[in-house]
Amino acid sequence: METIKVGIVGLGRLGKVHAHNLKGKVANATLYAACSPVSEELEYAKNNLGVQVTYTDYEEMVKDEQLDAIFIVSPSGLHCSQIQLGLKYGKHVFSEKPIGLNIEEINETIQVINQYPNQKFMLGFMRRFDTDYMYAKELVDNDELGDVTLIRCYGIDPSEGLESFVKFAGASNSGGLFADMSIHDIDLVRWFTGQEVSKVWAIGKNTTYKELDEVGELETGAAMLQLADNTMGILVAGRNCHHGYHVETELIGTKGMLRIAQVPEKNLVTIMNEHGVVRPTSQNFPERFSQAFINEANEFIECILTDRQPSINAIDGLESTKVALACKESYEKNQLVTI
Ligand code: NAI
Repeated sequence: METIKVGIVGLGRLGKVHAHNLKGKVANATLYAACSPVSEELEYAKNNLGVQVTYTDYEEMVKDEQLDAIFIVSPSGLHCSQIQLGLKYGKHVFSEKPIGLNIEEINETIQVINQYPNQKFMLGFMRRFDTDYMYAKELVDNDELGDVTLIRCYGIDPSEGLESFVKFAGASNSGGLFADMSIHDIDLVRWFTGQEVSKVWAIGKNTTYKELDEVGELETGAAMLQLADNTMGILVAGRNCHHGYHVETELIGTKGMLRIAQVPEKNLVTIMNEHGVVRPTSQNFPERFSQAFINEANEFIECILTDRQPSINAIDGLESTKVALACKESYEKNQLVTI
């Protein structure tokens, strides 16, 4: 079978994960090029990833005729312009979430995506490729829970990353806690219910680092969502989880309820020692979703090879960002926001 030559932009926390997957764990793909403004990252690409060509300028990379597809893992504010440029130069494009941070720019990007129907576009909501979430979705679709009435979602990053987040929070725009963290949960709410969110009310609190107030970022936030058919959503998001990486989802239905990772267990080991009975917890997103990242990349490559569009598209990106930005607005204005 044909091998898809991929170029990656961004080799930070997640870029390295995707790059290593593309190097050896994704079928029928090869990591051919990498782009970053940071020379150490390009050295890393050559030495540790076996990348043949490196670029400091993204447009130069997408012009490379050897390349079939681009993986965008750069800061969120760059996604829209990089998606557009990749498509214009004839590449298939995978972009990390969120699709963008500005609704006008996202709509413009959707128009460009629609101009290239033969090229594939996919957005990185990898939880839809996690086997536990897939199992839960099958149960919901098979009516095991009856009608879903409420979904409660936790997405809290480990405390160990908080200090460095605070250091760079002013310099790089994450889009705020809801666009950065809750966007996965918002996507899950839409995916499980097939409904759009109509109203949101969000609150938040900065305690450890009060300076986050000044840059419009949050250490912990929460939001209530009302969906078009009155289904309810509760989001809890944060950046200060002391036991590791806490991603948990609960669905309550008329016939039953289910929880995915109600304790975010790392594995099946239980330790009994002076602390009592200890269950290790998952520590970060590369660990918790390692297989999901591989599965989603496999799906993207397979879509290219079998000429079908991925199931996660730009509309999923637009709708989830609308909700995340409404949560931000609700928090900032202290009022209920109708979408
Ligand atoms: P990071 O800050 O660790 O890495 C960003 C990378 O982009 C660095 O390699 C940097 O050199 C590069 N970069 C910066 N400016 C650039 C430019 N002008 N042109 C090209 N490259 C540039 O960020 P991280 O955490 O890896 O996040 C990257 C993206 O992935 C974000 O959009 C984030 O929302 C998303 N993400 C998704 C996750 C998921 O669960 N699916 C988890 C973590 C991040």
